[in-house]
Amino acid sequence: MSGKTLLEAKAIVKELGQGAGKVRALKGVDLALKGGELTLLMGPSGSGKTTLLSILGCILSPTEGEVVIGGNSTKGLKPEGLARLRRNQVGFVFQDYNLFPTLTATENIKLALDVRGMAKAEQRPAAEKALIAVGLAEKLNSYPGQMSGGQQQRVAIARALAGNPSVILADEPTAALDSENGQAIMALLSEIAKDETRAVLAVTHDPRTLPFADRIVLIEDGLIVREERPVKRGIVKSDAGGSPPPEPTPEPEPAAEPGQVEAAAAPAPETAAITVAAQSTPPAQTAAAPEPAAVPRPAQHAAPHANATSGNRRKRSHRFARGEHLP
Ligand SMILES: Nc1ncnc2c1ncn2[C@@H]1O[C@H](COP(=O)(O)OP(=O)(O)OP(=O)(O)O)[C@@H](O)[C@H]1O
Ligand SMILES: [Mg+2]
Repeated sequence: MSGKTLLEAKAIVKELGQGAGKVRALKGVDLALKGGELTLLMGPSGSGKTTLLSILGCILSPTEGEVVIGGNSTKGLKPEGLARLRRNQVGFVFQDYNLFPTLTATENIKLALDVRGMAKAEQRPAAEKALIAVGLAEKLNSYPGQMSGGQQQRVAIARALAGNPSVILADEPTAALDSENGQAIMALLSEIAKDETRAVLAVTHDPRTLPFADRIVLIEDGLIVREERPVKRGIVKSDAGGSPPPEPTPEPEPAAEPGQVEAAAAPAPETAAITVAAQSTPPAQTAAAPEPAAVPRPAQHAAPHANATSGNRRKRSHRFARGEHLP
């Protein structure tokens, strides 16, 4: 069962770049995220997924439209206000984890909690609780370099969780992982999304993530063009084990009209078609980037993300310098 709407994006337009390089990356997106749901956002390279995630997470301001999170509108907010909303309400997970290599798992989370303003004495217990919750009780004092990719991503998820955000936004969280670890991370996100006080949105190109979705939203060329609510076969909502199902077998439900996500008007094609569409469209070129995009983007769209290891991993260390990886 899904809970109440925790995040609502209304008529979002986003222009990026300047002059001749100006791109209308989002062209009027409406999207509502409800508690208790894992939503997958899929679409071709360059379709606006990362831009949308950045706006939903209060990293970027929309050119037009507004985002309402936990009843707070971003309209008219100055950068500090936007940052406060982001810190209080949003947890981020990125494909390359964005952990500080010189800090242990616990210290990485403590730092994020410090930025959020949590009292010092509470930070360690909260960090350890979050790490235990994601199955890393044995790794509290391990450094990122001493952990597998899947374990590092668990730390990143624990960091996102520790601040108790109402919304968790993940940009291709399985893209740098092998199949087994990718499935485990999706199972974890799916488990986290069972909490009705929390909505989870994951951008993905990975068809193996489909069985975990409560909802799949397809974006193309800056517009939401379709939505489906697959049947989660093989995943029992009350099963705390969260083990992945054997096959991705989602069934489509009626789709939304472009730009609407809660409508249910016409039958949608098979979810598999979404997957194919998401992977077969030629990649768009990323224009010069005078406006900083805080959710990291690939340096270039060299190829669609056809598998878990393709594309744009580990090109984002510059974000450390700006501290943008912090929740
Ligand atoms: N700073 C920028 N300046 C100008 N255009 C930009 C900038 N950043 C992104 N774009 C363009 O905006 C559009 C949306 O980009 P975005 O990164 O949101 O796509 P995406 O769906 O996340 O793609 P991918 O799957 O490759 O990560 C693309 O056409 C891209 O080239
Ligand atoms: Mg992207």
